[in-house]
Amino acid sequence: MWFLAIFFVLMHIVELSNGGVTSNYVRKPEPSVDMPIEMFPPPAGHNAPEQVHITQGDHEGRSMIISWVTPLKHHGAVIYWEAEAKDSNQKKCKVRSRNTSYKYHNYTSGHIHHATIKGLKHDTKYVYELGQHPVTRRFYFTTPPKVGPDVPCTFGVIGDLGQTFDSNQTLEHYISNPKGQALLFVGDLSYADDYPFHNNERWDTWARFVEKSTAYQPWIWTAGNHEIDFAPEIGEKIPFKPYTHRYHVPYQASKSSSPLWYSIKRASAYIIVLSSYSAYGKYTPQYDWLEQEFPKVNRKETPWLIVLLHSPWYNSNNYHYMEGESMRVMFESWFVQYKVDLVFSGHVHAYERSERISNVRYNITDGLSTPIKDASAPVYITIGDGGNIEGIANSFTESQPSYSAYREASFGHAILDIKNRTHAYYTWHRNQDNEPVVADSTWFFNRYWYPEEEHN
Ligand SMILES: *[C@@H]1O[C@H](CO)[C@@H](O)[C@H](O)[C@H]1NC(C)=O
Ligand SMILES: *[C@@H]1O[C@H](CO)[C@@H](O)[C@H](O)[C@H]1NC(C)=O
Ligand SMILES: *[C@@H]1O[C@H](CO)[C@@H](O)[C@H](O)[C@H]1NC(C)=O
Ligand SMILES: *[C@@H]1O[C@H](CO)[C@@H](O)[C@H](O)[C@H]1NC(C)=O
Ligand SMILES: *[C@@H]1O[C@H](CO)[C@@H](O)[C@H](O)[C@H]1NC(C)=O
Ligand SMILES: [Fe+2]
Repeated sequence: MWFLAIFFVLMHIVELSNGGVTSNYVRKPEPSVDMPIEMFPPPAGHNAPEQVHITQGDHEGRSMIISWVTPLKHHGAVIYWEAEAKDSNQKKCKVRSRNTSYKYHNYTSGHIHHATIKGLKHDTKYVYELGQHPVTRRFYFTTPPKVGPDVPCTFGVIGDLGQTFDSNQTLEHYISNPKGQALLFVGDLSYADDYPFHNNERWDTWARFVEKSTAYQPWIWTAGNHEIDFAPEIGEKIPFKPYTHRYHVPYQASKSSSPLWYSIKRASAYIIVLSSYSAYGKYTPQYDWLEQEFPKVNRKETPWLIVLLHSPWYNSNNYHYMEGESMRVMFESWFVQYKVDLVFSGHVHAYERSERISNVRYNITDGLSTPIKDASAPVYITIGDGGNIEGIANSFTESQPSYSAYREASFGHAILDIKNRTHAYYTWHRNQDNEPVVADSTWFFNRYWYPEEEHN
């Protein structure tokens, strides 16, 4: 009898260890089609500023990097002022831009301007103006509140966006959701490299496409494989050339030696950005930086520790299966030791959320190679579902592994709504949902202040 009992116990465990939800929502099967290049002409007017995008410019949130492109060379500048200044004599301030440009095969970029506005007040709306009289364009942004443990803040999350009609839906849904104050972008921006000779005009059209969001709130950039643009067959041997010319990030503020990995603080969150396509082995610059970075995070100041990287470590999709494994092997034990709350990745063009699991005990000889529940481990979210031209990754491994809580092959975006030091509400919106209807949602509990199991 005892073996029967054990048999039933085992059966029960098998049942329990079955994975979470594989959504049966089926999106329309047609492939994604890029919006025609003609749909994104440059703005009217002589040498009009275009492709405007902003990102946090320092570690604390009192600076903003403003970037834009002009067709012709000129001394660019940003003029900015407080939108609701009490003092009506408040003068307008001016910061000059540093301009750059690059060639890629037979493409020559416009003049790319980057200007860093410093010493901004917290939690304040600013208006800024670009261009030369009479062709000027105005935008605005709101700075984050001062960093502190119970300061609420709301992030959007998008990955692998591209510039298809589906990408347009994702972006429009995100913009129409009024909550997002800053966007965590987990890599793969324009997909220009899917075109012959990496047609860099697609970098220009992409930046025009997303301007309606990127000019008004910071997008926190992560590099993906579509940012590499390494093409020695056409003479392009400098990895990340278009991306690093066009998208500046405040990497020096976190003592990083490369724009491909860095950190920022924002309200109650500490955000670490890593590069899946830069060396991360022991003794490499990225490894050394991250080793020194984790101990600097003060959870009493920024309770929420969030990591962005492109290639997911836990992915039960047949697409890009185990591509993130070597980085996981290098870094996962630190993520558990330092109690990272959330890891957002892209790359796989579908959506998946994991349980809190780790696989750090495995050491090749001990046979312990299965992910196990771990209260100190992050939740891993794969959100490479922005809607790019390569289409949906609709082939999940069967059966769903126990670490996978929810997975669905649809396009969409997420909202992470941090309420205080213990609670954050998270929703994933497939490109069908309006705000009240969400495909996946859960409360996240902070790993440092409230390491309880989430029940959803
Ligand atoms: C930036 O613009 C100025 C003014 O036209 C020009 O002198 C300078 O060469 C430009 N720098 C680059 C890197 O294009
Ligand atoms: C760049 O080269 C390709 C292949 O030779 C050609 O098809 C394309 O029109 C060229 N583009 C420009 C801007 O000259
Ligand atoms: C993008 O979506 C918006 C809102 O639905 C729509 O007005 C616009 O026409 C779309 N753009 C394209 C190129 O389809
Ligand atoms: C690997 O695991 C085995 C079995 O638990 C243990 O004896 C050994 O010390 C471990 N090796 C390392 C390098 O941690
Ligand atoms: C944190 O936010 C959650 C959710 O809104 C709330 O239930 C909880 O009481 C808050 N904690 C504190 C200390 O305010
Ligand atoms: Fe990718």
